[in-house]
Amino acid sequence: MTRHLITSALPYINGVKHLGNLIGSMLPADAYARYLRARGEDVLFICATDEHGTPAELAAKEADQSPAEFCAEAHDMQKSMYDEFGLSFDHFGRTSSAQNAELTQQFARTLHANGFIEERSTRQVFSIADDRFLPDRYIVGTCPHCGYDRARGDQCENCTRLLDPTDLIEPRSAVSGSTALEVRETKHLYLLQSKLQDEVEGWINLAGDAWPHLATSIARKWIAEGLRDRAITRDLEWGVPVPDDTWPELAADGKVFYVWFDAPIGYLAATKEWSDAEPAARDWKSWWHDADSVYHTEFMGKDNVPFHTVMFPATILGTREPWTMVGNVKSFSWLTYYGGKFSTSQHIGIFMRDALDLLPADYWRYFLLANAPESDDVSFTWELFAAQVNKDLADVLGNFVNRVLTFSHKRFGDQLPAGHEPGEAERELGGQLQEMLREYESCLTATQFRKAAHVLRTMWSLGNEYVNDKAPWVQVKTDEDAAALTLRTAANLIYLFGMISEPFIPTTALALRAIWGTPVAEPMDNQFPDEKAVQRLDWLPAGTKFTVPGVLFRKISDDNVAAWRSQFGPDAESCLR
Ligand code: 2FM
Ligand code: ZN
Repeated sequence: MTRHLITSALPYINGVKHLGNLIGSMLPADAYARYLRARGEDVLFICATDEHGTPAELAAKEADQSPAEFCAEAHDMQKSMYDEFGLSFDHFGRTSSAQNAELTQQFARTLHANGFIEERSTRQVFSIADDRFLPDRYIVGTCPHCGYDRARGDQCENCTRLLDPTDLIEPRSAVSGSTALEVRETKHLYLLQSKLQDEVEGWINLAGDAWPHLATSIARKWIAEGLRDRAITRDLEWGVPVPDDTWPELAADGKVFYVWFDAPIGYLAATKEWSDAEPAARDWKSWWHDADSVYHTEFMGKDNVPFHTVMFPATILGTREPWTMVGNVKSFSWLTYYGGKFSTSQHIGIFMRDALDLLPADYWRYFLLANAPESDDVSFTWELFAAQVNKDLADVLGNFVNRVLTFSHKRFGDQLPAGHEPGEAERELGGQLQEMLREYESCLTATQFRKAAHVLRTMWSLGNEYVNDKAPWVQVKTDEDAAALTLRTAANLIYLFGMISEPFIPTTALALRAIWGTPVAEPMDNQFPDEKAVQRLDWLPAGTKFTVPGVLFRKISDDNVAAWRSQFGPDAESCLR
C-alpha cells in the first residue's frame, strides 16, 4: 500500500506569521493529511521551523538574545499557534537539531566525494572592528537609487531594487555600525549544479507531469535558464558548521552551510527527530531512503518552487543515493490584503495570533481553504470573509444542524424518532450525495482545495434543501411518521457532515460527531464514509440519543467588519481605492 509522506514548507523562525503563510503551505497540507488519514491511509505529516540564516541571526540580535535562545522561544511560540489552528503534524521539528547538522554534513561529504562540491576563492566584505566577513544583509548604507539610508547589501527595502554591497554609499556594518570595511579574499564551497543540469531536466520531464501547472511552469522556466554553480556556505555564527574532517580550513574559519542548503534536508532530519523519539516503533529511513511505495507530496508558496523542484532535487541526485524524490509539488500564489502585499515589517494584513484572538480556527480554515490562491493571487477582504462565513458556515451548515435537532428534540425528545421507511426522496438524496462525495474525494486527492470546498458547501446545502422541501414542521401536523423520517434522515446528514468536513473544520466536525452520545475518535482515522454507506444514510438508527449543540458559528456583523478594518489597517480605505 502507498505510504503518504506530506511536508509543508518550513516556516522561517523569525517574523510574525500571517494568514498568507498559513494558506500558502501548512493549512492545505493539513487538510490533505487529515483527508488521507480519514481514508485509512498511512500518513506521515512533517514540518519544522527553518532556523538558520542571516534573518534569524539579525532577529536574535534585535531581541538581545543568542540565536539559540531566540530560536527556542520562537519555535515554541509557533508550535503552539499551529496547534491552535489544528495543524496535525506528526512532528514539528527544528532545522537547528543535531539530526539536521548530521544529515547536512553527510550530504555535503557525499556530494564532495562524487565531485559535485568544489572550494573556490571569492572576494567579500570584511569588517575590521567585528573581525568577521559580513554577509550581504549585514552591510547597510545609502541606496544609490532612492537615497534611503538603511538599505541592505542585498536589497533596498524602500525602493525594492536588488543591490550588491559594493553599490551602497557609505557602507557600514549592521553588527557594529563600523565603517572600517575592506574587501578580502575568502574561500567558500560551491555546489556544481551545472554538472547536474541534464539529470535534473530529465527528472523534471518525467516527474513534472504529475504536478499542478503552477509548479511545472516555474520548474521548467528555471531549468531552461540553466543551472549555475552556487555558493553553499556563509560566514555566520548560527548554522550547520562545515565538517572539519572534509574541509579543515573552512571549518577553522567558522563557515556554516547556507540556509537553503540545510533547510530542505530539514525534512529528512525532522523525520529523524520523530523517529528518534520512539526508535522501537518508528523508522525514518523507511520513509526517505530506498523507500518502497512512499509518495511524497510537498506544499509551498510559489517562491519556494525553484528550490524544491530544481535545487534540492539536484542535491539529491548528486548524492547518487536513493533518497525519496518528490511526487507532487502543490504550490500557491499569494493571499493579498485588499490587493496589497501582507507585510510583516509594516504590519499590514492579518497575523495568525490576531486571527485566533478574534475567532476560532475553523472560521479561518474554511475561508482560507475555500479561497486558496491555487492559481492566481486572491485578495482577503473583511467584507468577503464576513459574507462567506455568514452564508456558508452560519446559515447553511450551522443553521441546518440547529434547526433539525432543536425541532426533533421539541417534538420527539432526546432520541431520534423512527417513522416511515426511507422513500423516493431519501433515495434520490442519497444518490446525489453519493455522486458529490465521489467528486469531493477526487478534488481532495488531486489537492484541489477550492473545488473541494465548493463541493462540500453544495453537500451542506443539499441538507437544507431536503429539509425545506419536506418541511417537517408542516408534516408533523398531518403525518408524524413522515416528519420523523425527515428528521432522522437529516440527523444522519449531520453525522455525514461530521465525517466529511473534518479536513476543513476539524473542531466543528468533531462536535458534529459528538452529538450522538457515543465516544468519538479523534483524529478521525479510517472513518471516512464510503459511497455505498452514503446512499443508505443510516448510520444513526431510530432511538439514538442526542444533545442539541449550541450555536456552531456566530455571524459576523457589519460593526465587526468596520471595527476589524480599522484595527487591521493600516489604511484599508486607501487599499480599496
Ligand atoms: O520560504 C520560506 O518560508 C522558507 N523558510 C521555506 C523553506 S522550505 C524547506 F526547504 F525548508
Ligand atoms: Zn532604494
